[in-house]
Amino acid sequence: MTDELKRAAAEKALELVQDGMLVGLGSGSTTRFFTEGVGRLVSQGMKVRGVPTSRETAELAAQHGIPIVTELVGQIDLAVDGADEVDQALNLIKGRGGALLREKLVAAASKRFVVVIDESKLVKDLGVGVLPVEVVPFLWRSTAERLTALGLSLVVRGGEGTPYITDNGNLILDLSGEGGISDPKEFGAELKKITGVVEHGLFVGMTDTVIVAGADGPKAIGRPPGPR
Ligand code: 5RP
Repeated sequence: MTDELKRAAAEKALELVQDGMLVGLGSGSTTRFFTEGVGRLVSQGMKVRGVPTSRETAELAAQHGIPIVTELVGQIDLAVDGADEVDQALNLIKGRGGALLREKLVAAASKRFVVVIDESKLVKDLGVGVLPVEVVPFLWRSTAERLTALGLSLVVRGGEGTPYITDNGNLILDLSGEGGISDPKEFGAELKKITGVVEHGLFVGMTDTVIVAGADGPKAIGRPPGPR
């Protein structure tokens, strides 16, 4: 996806931002444009506060003068984030940027969750690429064995010698299997039952709107605005 398409999707999402909103700020190269745009709105006098989904986004938000909220009572008005894969039911795989836990916390706490992508992220069935799973470092090999017992292959992100450490101090195991994920809800529920798994990158039934940028410009698909 070119930067122009990423920017186009993010700018479309910016149209949803209104004065006084508390906005979830996603992570990744697409939502970077969104956060920068929110900064522009703030500099123009709009009163918007942001809930960042990663330390990197928090730094970006601070650089752009966006007041940051990390403790929450009540709901976030709107969260905007990217995705790695989006299926026809608007279920997602997220976390190839490593921020899936905070991203899911923010999406779950939001009245409206909007995903910004380019059309290459649209898939028939999820699982074209890896599924990131965040696990606690303690006895992680035992956790990995429980995952491989489900018939999955996995690699430690970054490699065992220099593993990638999430903002929450955990590891990411990138899972892959034969074929796509036919029932993401069921599969996600199975993964959550495994001791040592903190969270996985399947976002099922959470998305309200997907803004897809393609050659013909950004298009919104999903349900109309309103509570989930
Ligand atoms: C990070 C994510 C990102 O939103 C996802 O990887 C998409 O990133 P990009 O916009 O750079 O393609 O889930 O954990």
